[in-house]
Amino acid sequence: GPAVGHGGDGSHHAHAGHGKKAVNVTELTGPRTGEPDRRYTLVARKETVRLSSGKTVEAWTFNGQVPGPELRARKGELVEVTLINEDIDDGVTIHWHGVDVPNAEDGVAGLTQDAVKPGERHTYRFRVEETGTHWYHSHQTSSIQVKKGLFGPLVLLPEEEEPEKGLDLSLMYHFFGNREVLNDSDTLRHRRVDPGTEVRLRLTNTDSYPRFFTLVGTPFRVTAIDGNEIHRPGELENVLLSVAAGGRYDVIFTMPDRPVRLTAGTGSDDPEILFTPDGKGKVPEVSDHLRLSLFDPADYGEPGEVPLGLSGGFDREFTMVFDFGMGFYNGMFRDLWLINGEKFPHTPTFMVQQGDLVKTTFINRSPMDHPMHLHGHHMLVLSKNGKPVTGSPWWTDTLNVAPGESYEVAFRADNPGIWMDHCHNLDHAAAGMTLHLSYE
Ligand code: C2O
Ligand code: CU
Repeated sequence: GPAVGHGGDGSHHAHAGHGKKAVNVTELTGPRTGEPDRRYTLVARKETVRLSSGKTVEAWTFNGQVPGPELRARKGELVEVTLINEDIDDGVTIHWHGVDVPNAEDGVAGLTQDAVKPGERHTYRFRVEETGTHWYHSHQTSSIQVKKGLFGPLVLLPEEEEPEKGLDLSLMYHFFGNREVLNDSDTLRHRRVDPGTEVRLRLTNTDSYPRFFTLVGTPFRVTAIDGNEIHRPGELENVLLSVAAGGRYDVIFTMPDRPVRLTAGTGSDDPEILFTPDGKGKVPEVSDHLRLSLFDPADYGEPGEVPLGLSGGFDREFTMVFDFGMGFYNGMFRDLWLINGEKFPHTPTFMVQQGDLVKTTFINRSPMDHPMHLHGHHMLVLSKNGKPVTGSPWWTDTLNVAPGESYEVAFRADNPGIWMDHCHNLDHAAAGMTLHLSYE
């Protein structure tokens, strides 16, 4: 069929699986009526974008910029986003990465909607039921379109009318051509901040493979992962943060009276931000990279409440084993990333019933990382390499499973529809590392 060329990242038509009746996703929309509290328009179009170094890139953008405009909304609000595709030939969609929207608003081309062709438009509506740092991106041939720039930040704030205070910065790491970029900057940037200011950095990795961030010159806390708050996060210094592909970390510090340096990476040519009290100052050095220890969410923070009802046992248990192979896929001889020995559309469809408590085990026997992203649900990490999580409850939507690692996660099947579950190294997803979670 015509969808084959798009790869396995959602452009195939839905597999309801093994003769079971599919949920009719057209019934699973956000509120179709009612005046929205926030209204946004995102126009997908090609644009030449200039980076801070002066280098230009031929990008695919939302509203002419990369990242696209930051969308903000508060809990309880009705959000309406109109997507207009000006000139992206393959068509475009918008997926709200990390937000458990109703299935028909999930923006997966070929599964929950058709891609929006040039000259067409599509309206998404959903009520904000959670908070935190999320992002949006096209989910049509996403291994190409996200790389080209069709993404942006989505910040969901609590409902309290508390004034936004301090400095609150969304920073999206991306690879553009051969340049590593934080938002639109591929060089060192200065930013003046008054001492005493509370600074929140919303670090997002839009690229493939985990991305290291270092913050030097101040103690700090990781207050949320994938938009989910950490319970009693402790103070950190000299740690390396590894953000999964598609993942987000919220980092908070109080601006000291000396410079603070944020680096996206550990190399010498990484994009950086120098926060300074007076607009100048010396860049604080990481004196010895080897002294930086790797931050691990599995033992960070303190145990807290888990509203998942874990004591009663699981209704379903699934296992995903990741392997590497070589073979033909979409007419090409290439590397293959397999789930349980198969590639999409031959991977299993995991069937659940509304209300099920589901356990999933990930086992990575392949030589590469696989950041596993489940749409429509938040996963609670139960254990890592056989050891239970001892820190704060760790909720994620994009869990990096490194070579040799295993994880157990749990989620409640409370959002009916048919959902993608795939590797967020989007070239892996396009090579078949995708399956569907479907409600009976
Ligand atoms: Cu952020 Cu299915 O993707
Ligand atoms: Cu992968």
